[in-house]
Amino acid sequence: MRKKIVAGNWKMNKNLEEGLSLASEVINIAVDEITPSAGVTIVLNPSFVHLASVRKLIPAGKHVFLGAQNCHHKASGAFTGEISVEMLKSLPVDYTIIGHSERREYFGETNALIAEKLNLLLANGITPIFCCGEALPIREAETHLAYVAQQITESLFHLSAEDLQKVVIAYEPIWAIGTGKTASSAQAQEMHAHLRQHLAGKYGQDVANEISILYGGSCNPSNARELFACADVDGGLIGGASLKARDFIEIAKSF
Ligand code: PGA
Repeated sequence: MRKKIVAGNWKMNKNLEEGLSLASEVINIAVDEITPSAGVTIVLNPSFVHLASVRKLIPAGKHVFLGAQNCHHKASGAFTGEISVEMLKSLPVDYTIIGHSERREYFGETNALIAEKLNLLLANGITPIFCCGEALPIREAETHLAYVAQQITESLFHLSAEDLQKVVIAYEPIWAIGTGKTASSAQAQEMHAHLRQHLAGKYGQDVANEISILYGGSCNPSNARELFACADVDGGLIGGASLKARDFIEIAKSF
């Protein structure tokens, strides 16, 4: 059975003190109000500089996990200012977001480069949260289904079925990120079902059914329930609403 996941992408927000306070609040409420039997995996993705400190706050054996927002695509070397997968593993982190549209847009990340990150993460036992999604002109041209499937083909289809099943996919339409303009549940379901069929075409339906596909883009406590009720939506990657502990937890309780 595929996992239900709610992951908070804090982006470049919160200083150390604020980050630790948000993390403790989320962890405390999550442990108090969400029982492990609810089957929801909660992932906190603070900035790199907060990871080691947030790690210490996360109780072992609970349903709360730690994630990074990015990693470098080479294993190590002369890459001043960058963070390697090996460094993340040493903390350890459990998850790492790769291919977020902000990284694609502002840092020129391509599907091929994201595939390199994916390979390193898998080799080091860290779960990649692979982001994909189309910009508004692509949706308006009605080529969005093929466009996002192509992102998946180019970054994921070199994997074995066994490795593919270790990947979490996050569909994040760019026009919905940080805009307050969420995809409707019908739009999300259409894309998620399409992506699952695309995976099934290559790996078979049983493998495709095991992959968690999260929705991201202005997801909040008011729309999460409807989105998560869709057959192929297995949770969310939450930006703005993950910066408020109560909102984030309410989203995690929306299954
Ligand atoms: P948002 O961001 O929830 O603020 O729209 C989502 C994301 O970029 O992961």
